[in-house]
Amino acid sequence: MELRFGEGLEPYFLDEASVFAAESLGVNPGDRVLDMCAAPGGKTLVLASKLQGNGSLQSNDRSPDRRLRLQHVIENSLPESWRSIINVTGYDGVKFGMHKKECYDRILLDAPCSSDRHVLNSPAHLEVWSVKRVKRLSVEQGSLLASAVDALAPGGTLIYSTCALSPMENDDVVKKILKKRKTMCLDEIVEIPEGADRTECGVHILPDRAAGRGPIYCAKMRKVLP
Ligand SMILES: C[S@@+](CC[C@H](N)C(=O)[O-])C[C@H]1O[C@@H](n2cnc3c(N)ncnc32)[C@H](O)[C@@H]1O
Repeated sequence: MELRFGEGLEPYFLDEASVFAAESLGVNPGDRVLDMCAAPGGKTLVLASKLQGNGSLQSNDRSPDRRLRLQHVIENSLPESWRSIINVTGYDGVKFGMHKKECYDRILLDAPCSSDRHVLNSPAHLEVWSVKRVKRLSVEQGSLLASAVDALAPGGTLIYSTCALSPMENDDVVKKILKKRKTMCLDEIVEIPEGADRTECGVHILPDRAAGRGPIYCAKMRKVLP
């Protein structure tokens, strides 16, 4: 779908399933928000549109090249008053838990994954796909999620999302963190798009069942108040 936030601003095209994942975070004006793996920036645009210039949004991505694209998207697709509260950073996501303990009300972790949509369409992606890579990614996703949990303020909400098909990169990552961090609980995403499936921990939107949307997996978690 087309995201357009004003006259003269560049439109951004984002899969409806990705918009759903970002909207499920439930951002409100005034929130302190972290988009931990933000480039190229589609979901950051959705989060910024919920804040409407009130609160703060840290849009982080470790890759310098992808960060350039993120900066371009923010500068060209958002009104000035909305972008003034956005801080683009380039930290390794696994460090947030240590250096920004309990600092954010809302965190989106749209994790690096095996990007199975590309595997379906591109021989180059299919070539690098392997079970070993899925396992390696799931370990990386677990570390990023643990960091996000530690950076989340009590009472705060977190969305973990991927565009992977394998439960190893989706529900399994969430189940492991719920075992390790007893302060976290699952939060049901009440309204889901037509054709989306509920999984043990979250929601999976698959193109063949949801009119071409996705694939996107997302799970919502909350840190309980002490
Ligand atoms: C699925 S993409 C994010 C897509 C983005 N949320 C959007 O909607 O446009 C995953 C991103 O994670 C970044 N990344 C991978 N490992 C990271 C890490 N350890 N810390 C921060 N960013 C990381 C990659 O550079 C990549 O841009």
